[in-house]
Amino acid sequence: MHRTTARLVVRPPTADDLESLFTIYGDPATHQFNPSGPLRDLGQAEALLHVWLKHWEDKGYGQWAISTCEAPQNLIGFGGLDARMYVDVERLNLGYRFAATAWGKGYATELSQAALDYGFEELGLNEVFAVVRPNHSASIRVLEKIGMRIVDFLDDVPGQPPSLVFKARRSG
Ligand SMILES: CC(C)(COP(=O)(O)OP(=O)(O)OC[C@H]1O[C@@H](n2cnc3c(N)ncnc32)[C@H](O)[C@@H]1OP(=O)(O)O)[C@@H](O)C(=O)NCCC(=O)NCCS
Repeated sequence: MHRTTARLVVRPPTADDLESLFTIYGDPATHQFNPSGPLRDLGQAEALLHVWLKHWEDKGYGQWAISTCEAPQNLIGFGGLDARMYVDVERLNLGYRFAATAWGKGYATELSQAALDYGFEELGLNEVFAVVRPNHSASIRVLEKIGMRIVDFLDDVPGQPPSLVFKARRSG
């Protein structure tokens, strides 16, 4: 179930990834643009991991655990495609969260392109969506670099400007 890109290895998460998940998701730096803030304790990380594992079990795809080809034992982030409810519609959503030490190297772009290719070529999807806060320039840039475009707005944070909804369509 491992897949590789030019520099990254991705695989389904396992129960053994709990500590890495909490290290990355418990860091305030990785939640600067997430109104919910970082995970506070291992219990929250365990609950999130459980959701991911169940998603894999039910649908056969989901969030990937990500490392570099150079150091495959060391997780640097999580990301990929999963099914999300947008208002009342289930959509396939691209997401990613990398440890701060891994930022600025093009990894999110590489991961995201691999996730789109996987979605279109292997899952047979026609569309992939992503939701981003309007002031999250780095994440917006990642989505633009892989050819996604803004198609809608989502009022998902009360009292704050709406999030941007990006979409990519399968070509051909
Ligand atoms: C957002 C995130 C995924 C970016 O990961 P990354 O591996 O550094 O992204 P990449 O290197 O592939 O690309 C980032 C792009 O944004 C640009 N960028 C970075 N910071 C920026 C900023 N403050 N303003 C504008 N552009 C910025 C980079 O220059 C790069 O574009 P370029 O290739 O044209 O130069 C990473 O910071 C992260 O995991 N953050 C925490 C979790 C998170 O916010 N996830 C997204 C939720 S929507």
